[in-house]
Amino acid sequence: MKKQILVAGGTGYIGSHTAVELQNNGFEVIIADNLSNSKIEVLDGIESITGIRPIFEKVDLSVIEETEAFFKKYPNLEAIIHFAANKAVGESVAKPLMYYRNNLNSLMNMLEAMKEHNIPNLVFSSSCTVYGQPDKLPVTESTPRKEAESPYGNTKSISEDIIRDTVKAHPNLNGIALRYFNPIGAHPSAKIGELPLGVPNNLIPFITQTVAGIRQELSVFGDDYNTPDGSCIRDYINVVDLAKAHVVAIERLLMNKQNSNYEYFNVGTGEGVSVLEIIEGFERSTGEKVPHKIVARRPGDVEQIYADTSFANKSLGWKSESTLDDTLLSAWKWQENLKKEEVK
Ligand code: UFG
Repeated sequence: MKKQILVAGGTGYIGSHTAVELQNNGFEVIIADNLSNSKIEVLDGIESITGIRPIFEKVDLSVIEETEAFFKKYPNLEAIIHFAANKAVGESVAKPLMYYRNNLNSLMNMLEAMKEHNIPNLVFSSSCTVYGQPDKLPVTESTPRKEAESPYGNTKSISEDIIRDTVKAHPNLNGIALRYFNPIGAHPSAKIGELPLGVPNNLIPFITQTVAGIRQELSVFGDDYNTPDGSCIRDYINVVDLAKAHVVAIERLLMNKQNSNYEYFNVGTGEGVSVLEIIEGFERSTGEKVPHKIVARRPGDVEQIYADTSFANKSLGWKSESTLDDTLLSAWKWQENLKKEEVK
């Protein structure tokens, strides 16, 4: 019998790519999502890539009654991958209570359910935001966490603490937090990808929508940083490579290969790339011009961050594989497949 994995937030950007990779690796995927920031049609994309339609339940996991009813219906889960969270940095500054309530309640509700129903394993979506602006680059897993720049970032840091403390108190539970750097790109089939609602906050969807003619021009937030070309530096990780890291983490948990029952890993490429280099890379790989202008810095942006991935490479046996150019091309192919009306 196939092992059942709950993908909470599985119709979202990273969740949908992870559902595909889990199914490709012989797992049975059950998606729970409240569809607050995703569309049910994502299931068609997953099905058309893998030939299998994942089981879907519309559930708000931040509501305890809904969570309990869900877990009663699915008593045979082996593990949970938890993506179901709000993720817009700016919105979290304006609506902190919404972020704390949603992101922390859903995690705590699921940890309660894990205890109650003997589900031993959790993989959690964390973020490099927990490092703030690090004093030393690249960041390793032992780089100290810093005070979060936003309520969103704080929910990631607090969530890591909640998992660490809970699995410590309940040694039959295991957790892995994956600290994502900047996930970008889309499935090479262009059947699933990132679908931001309204005006995108993130760089790549803003670029693809600009090139598609939906936005007029990209604003580059600052060229006066202390970096080689003056623009900010990030570690852009291909979303399919990132999805594969979740499969590896699940296998590590199922095979009891952890060094302790709480672990955390950097999931990035190890390469720092500037905003201007992303624009160049996009133009090179797609042959399209990216209209852009330099504007003032965006408040809250860290100057530069990129991962030391050697611990994840060695412990998980995972490595990012895609080239930046192929990843940028995949983002553009996905955009080209979308109808303009969908993103307006
Ligand atoms: N940028 C622009 N113009 C835009 C959008 C972004 O110049 O229109 C720049 C930003 O200033 C930054 C880079 O592109 O230098 C990447 O910005 P994103 O908004 O795409 O990503 P962030 O690095 O700000 O945010 C990401 C995740 C967050 C996470 C954060 C941690 O989206 O979830 O990393 O650093 F919290």
